[in-house]
Amino acid sequence: MKDLSVVGKRVRRVDGLSKVTGKATYVDDLVTPGCLIAKVVGSPYAHARILGFDVSAAKKVPGVLSVLTARDIPGENQIGVIVSDQPLIAEEKVRYAGECVALIAAESEGALLEAEKKVKIKFEKLKGVFSAEEGLKPKAPKVHASGNLFTHLKVRKGNPDDAFGECKFVIERTYRTPHQEHMYLEPLGALAVPEKDGSILVIASMQCPYYVQKAVSTVLGIPMNRVRAVQAVTGGAFGGKEDVPSEVCGHAALLAWMTKRPVKLIYRREEDVLRSSKRHPAEIRYKMGLTGDGKIRAADITVTADIGAYATLSPAVLFRTTVHVPGPYKIPNVKVDTFGVLTNNPQCGAFRGFGGPQATFAHESMMDEAAFALGMDPIELRMKNALGDSSETPTGQILNGSVGLLETMEKARDASMWKKKRKTSGGGVRFVKGIGVACFHYGVSLGAKGKYLDASSAYVQVNPDGSVGAAIGGTELGQGAFTVVSQIVAEELGVDVENVRVLLVDTSIVPDSGPTVASRTTVFSGNAALRAASEVRGRMIAVAGEMLGGQGPVSVRSGFFTRGGKSIPFREVSGECYRRRIGLSAAGHYASRPTSFSEEDGSGDAYYVYSWGTQVAEVIVDTKTGKVEVTKVTAAQDVGKAINPGSVEGQIEGGVVQGIGYALYENFILDEGRPITQNLSTYIIPTALDAPEIASIIVEAPSEDGPFGAKGVGEPPIIPTAPAVANAVFNATGVRIREIPMTGEVVLGELRKIKK
Ligand code: MOS
Repeated sequence: MKDLSVVGKRVRRVDGLSKVTGKATYVDDLVTPGCLIAKVVGSPYAHARILGFDVSAAKKVPGVLSVLTARDIPGENQIGVIVSDQPLIAEEKVRYAGECVALIAAESEGALLEAEKKVKIKFEKLKGVFSAEEGLKPKAPKVHASGNLFTHLKVRKGNPDDAFGECKFVIERTYRTPHQEHMYLEPLGALAVPEKDGSILVIASMQCPYYVQKAVSTVLGIPMNRVRAVQAVTGGAFGGKEDVPSEVCGHAALLAWMTKRPVKLIYRREEDVLRSSKRHPAEIRYKMGLTGDGKIRAADITVTADIGAYATLSPAVLFRTTVHVPGPYKIPNVKVDTFGVLTNNPQCGAFRGFGGPQATFAHESMMDEAAFALGMDPIELRMKNALGDSSETPTGQILNGSVGLLETMEKARDASMWKKKRKTSGGGVRFVKGIGVACFHYGVSLGAKGKYLDASSAYVQVNPDGSVGAAIGGTELGQGAFTVVSQIVAEELGVDVENVRVLLVDTSIVPDSGPTVASRTTVFSGNAALRAASEVRGRMIAVAGEMLGGQGPVSVRSGFFTRGGKSIPFREVSGECYRRRIGLSAAGHYASRPTSFSEEDGSGDAYYVYSWGTQVAEVIVDTKTGKVEVTKVTAAQDVGKAINPGSVEGQIEGGVVQGIGYALYENFILDEGRPITQNLSTYIIPTALDAPEIASIIVEAPSEDGPFGAKGVGEPPIIPTAPAVANAVFNATGVRIREIPMTGEVVLGELRKIKK
């Protein structure tokens, strides 16, 4: 193994200082002369036909420069990322509350608000669909003409029906998970600047500048090389800024294009919650069959998910749910059916875990129920069935290495003192304590359903003074991507991290590298940057060898090229390369190994590499109020290789806290499709004060696809937290809660049922 000097170290975040000192420039901090501000006029109804527009009075408001409706769009009125079903501005029909029906640009906030009141739109209110269950009823109103059943995905393996007949235990349960709102700190925002040469620059808070580039090009009807999308420093995203910025940027760009002035569109929190995407609510019916000694023989699962009013990313999210929902176990007979249903609720799309948390709440609650039925220790039951090297997944994929699941189970069990604590759970008269476990697997990147996007590019440049610039296609959302990529480039070039500067993504520098999602950035941007750096390194080594003279290999480390006992500084070699007219820039490209999945057979190699993990949650339940307090979470995660252990721990801690919110507090309430929990005062998320003690354990089962053995880190930590907490609540109280969030009211209600 190579002796690493930068990779694997707790390097300080490269973007940390500018963020904690308030110097980082977010999109709303950008100052542009002559800039207009913008507002979206949203539909008051979740489902309505648009009978007519009158914007003439709004246009006359002093300070108003432009009022636009769908008819003003010069290109195609289309922003759908996977399916072309979503207009930039609604034209004939609105399908969710708050959907854009008109846009205003003005010189002042007062003018915007005045004009908003004067936009007259005639609606014919239609009966809406407000749950997946309603949407599937034969007489349900149709959200789109093609019907409400948007997708049916499946897994098929063996013969579950026969296998159930041979099982000693057959358990059938239904679990429910809710909408979840991202509540990133910085609401969505974009700045569009029309250039004199007929091109447009869009700077925004976003995850996927390439989606924005494409959407703006489509709606303006101009080629992609006339659209330059640049990421602004982004204050959190969690999936919520994957495709939604196409809409926000499309709106700003359209207004800028029509007014020929820069336009800034920044959502207030209420507007953000109203119009942004959410995590899919799901109902999961799981039927599991086990032998008397605890081997899982069969699983039959039906998932019904509310996808909201448009397809957005649902095909990819629900594919992940479908192939992950049996759990990370060896199950010879499997049947999964997932139904994605269109409704007039807010659109559901990407959210950290991307369809995984719903699946895992079901399979990990089920494993706990199975262990209880068998009278087995829950970790022992999981160990008995865990996927390992060379085992076959529920979709028939043979795993070829890099399976750290068992090790995460052992480490989480031992570090949490599981055995001892299971013996002393319950206790107290009012306050009772419990401990629960949950495991997960997570297919890194987009897998078979998004394989055409599974590639990334990067560009590395060494300057004459020895400083290094890197341009990548992956965005920094707060997850630490730029630090990790800086470390990878620094390691390969043998320089310090401070020598490397990673640029905010600019679509005019690096070509389409796919989205920054699915825990793929370390692997994809990391590998692409590594390849670019490696090429430049080779050229520099050749020159350094000539400069050093002598024989044997030349190495580069800590800013020096060395051969034998002789060294020269990195910057002398870079300077010499320029004098010799040797190019010190290179592009790197990385594409994943192939994945394949047959939608007809419902089987295949769904993802090319997986991350694995186990969390143990400890709770205290107040039996008088039903309040659950999570006191400690022990989280063991297989990340392949921790490029930056501090960063991995940061992701684990953040994910666990967000998972506690999902488990206990976050209650997204809709009234006829309109969110009534539109602010942080009503939609409660955990703060630092609610964070329990979190013990992070890093497990490294290296991935041959690297870089340096790394695989995905960012999303997984949220995935098993909710079922671990639910299982701990069961251990404490004997009450099984099959629906989250487990608010005090819910827990108290269940406690009262068993007391009766
Ligand atoms: Mo992330 S939920 O894959 O944008």
